[in-house]
This record gives sequence, C-alpha cells and structure tokens, in this order.
Amino acid sequence: MKSTALSFLAAATFACSALAEDKPVNAGPYVPSPQSVVTDMLKLAGVSEKDFVIDLGSGDGRIVLTAAKVFGARGFGVEIQDKLVKLSNEAAQKEGIADRVKFITQDLFKTDISQATVLTMYLLPNTVNMLKDKLLGELRPGTRIISHDYPLAGWIPEQYVQMDLEDKVAISGVTTTLIYLYVVPAKVDGSWNVKLPASGGKAAVTRLDLKQQVTRFSGSALVDGKSVPLEDAKLKGDQISFKLAGRNGTFSGTIKDSTISGTFAAGSTKTSWTASK
Ligand SMILES: C[S@@+](CC[C@H](N)C(=O)[O-])C[C@H]1O[C@@H](n2cnc3c(N)ncnc32)[C@H](O)[C@@H]1O
Repeated sequence: MKSTALSFLAAATFACSALAEDKPVNAGPYVPSPQSVVTDMLKLAGVSEKDFVIDLGSGDGRIVLTAAKVFGARGFGVEIQDKLVKLSNEAAQKEGIADRVKFITQDLFKTDISQATVLTMYLLPNTVNMLKDKLLGELRPGTRIISHDYPLAGWIPEQYVQMDLEDKVAISGVTTTLIYLYVVPAKVDGSWNVKLPASGGKAAVTRLDLKQQVTRFSGSALVDGKSVPLEDAKLKGDQISFKLAGRNGTFSGTIKDSTISGTFAAGSTKTSWTASK
C-alpha cells in the first residue's frame, strides 16, 4: 500500500465520489499485514483474554483470529469484500474459535465500535485520519488503538515501534514498518470546580481550567485566588496527573464522566481531592 501523493489523491477522489453515491468508501486495498506484524500489533496493545478486539477492514481475518487463538481475546472484524468475510468465518470454525470471533460484511465507517477494548487498523493514511472523530466519539477512554504504518495526525502515540521487514517491500516499496499504539483519552477540556481542603498551612485549590488537544492537556489552577500554571500534565485514558508550578506535590486522579477523584501526594502526606464540571 504505497503512501504516495498519487495513491492519496486517488483514494480521496474515490472517497468523495463514493460518498456522493452512498457507497462504502474504499478505505484501502486488500493487503494483509505480515503475520509477524500481526503478533507485534497485538503484543504492543497488551491483548489478553479480557479484551474485545475489533479490526476495521479485516481482510482474511488474521488479526482477530490471532487475537483469539494466541491471546484468548474475543472480537469481530468488518470487511466489505464478502469472499474475505466468508474465508475468515470458515477459518474461525476450523480453529474452533467461532464462539469468540465473527466476521461481518459491513462498511467500517458505519460499524458500531463502542464494544472494543482494542481497535486495530491497517488502512490508507487518509482513511485513518477520516476516522478520528468516530474513534473519539465511540470508543471508551482507555481503549487501545493500534494502527499499522499510518499515524493519527495530532494524536500523541503512547508508544510506537519501527522495524525493517523484507515482506513489506512488495506492499509499500520499502522495508520500513511502523506500529502505533494510542490510548483513547477521557474528555478533560473545560473548567472544573475542585474540592481540596486547605490543611496544615497548604493553600486551597478551587478551580482547574484545562485546555485539551486530543491526547494532551495544559492549563492552570486557581490557588487561593491566584492562577498557577500546571506542570507535568499527563493524560492516559481516564488517568490524569499534574503538578502546580513552583509547588510541592502531585495530583493524580481518575476521570469518570464529569467528575475526577484522586489523591494529592506531597511528601508522605496524601489528601483526597475531587473535581466536578
Ligand atoms: C490493508 S487491508 C488490511 C487487512 C487486515 N486488517 C490486515 O491487517 O491484515 C484493508 C482491508 O480493508 C477493507 N476495506 C476497505 N474499505 C472498507 C470499508 N469501507 N469497510 C470495510 N472494509 C473495508 C479492504 O477490502 C481490505 O481487505
């Protein structure tokens, strides 16, 4: 799958005309991920028997089949080519894992992906980026996204691995292979009313003003009426942590809908704090 300007343009043109006719957008040709890459993708996501893996554009089903057979996961794949879906379901039967995985002939853009704990894709670079709103809108915070070769622009990967594989020359013309791991972030943007009692001479924090850019955030806290910038701000799924510039201690917490609850740790002292929108 050559990521040339030409293939990008061709795919974009096809996408526009397909949209106009309400036909499925061609998100990429059938090019299977080499089996070693499939294993690396699932390992990078830390797939286990607790996971539900969805592969968008599942080809011959190898990602979901391997997730079930080797890592014990459940899941499904969606694919527009009927014959590939049939092949994948037959393979699931043959491997004795048809009770845990299935393959459906469906447009990936219209598939409900909310059940995924791990979502995988090997699609054209423009398609990957067309999916960004869907991923943020439907996947729960903490869901791992694995993309083979193409990044989600503007998202910071939790990790990525790069390797050289001879198998890829026939696909992309180069040996370079990339695997990106993203974790769907909770929504933290906005103002939060904080409850952190002033104790032992420590100042009271009453508000957080956070600005989120997908997987990152920055902002300030209102401390005794003064705005103090945040430092070391980190967001991973539903887990948040930050410090207040020039002050001791680390705030950490879990975001659930419109509340954050956690611990403020300074030296050996730990204080509970909460925030709500
Ligand atoms: C590059 S292959 C990846 C196959 C498999 N995920 C893997 O990594 O081995 C992309 C697949 O997406 C399928 N596809 C393209 N557009 C699609 C769409 N709108 N809905 C569902 N599948 C689609 C193609 O038929 C093709 O099999």
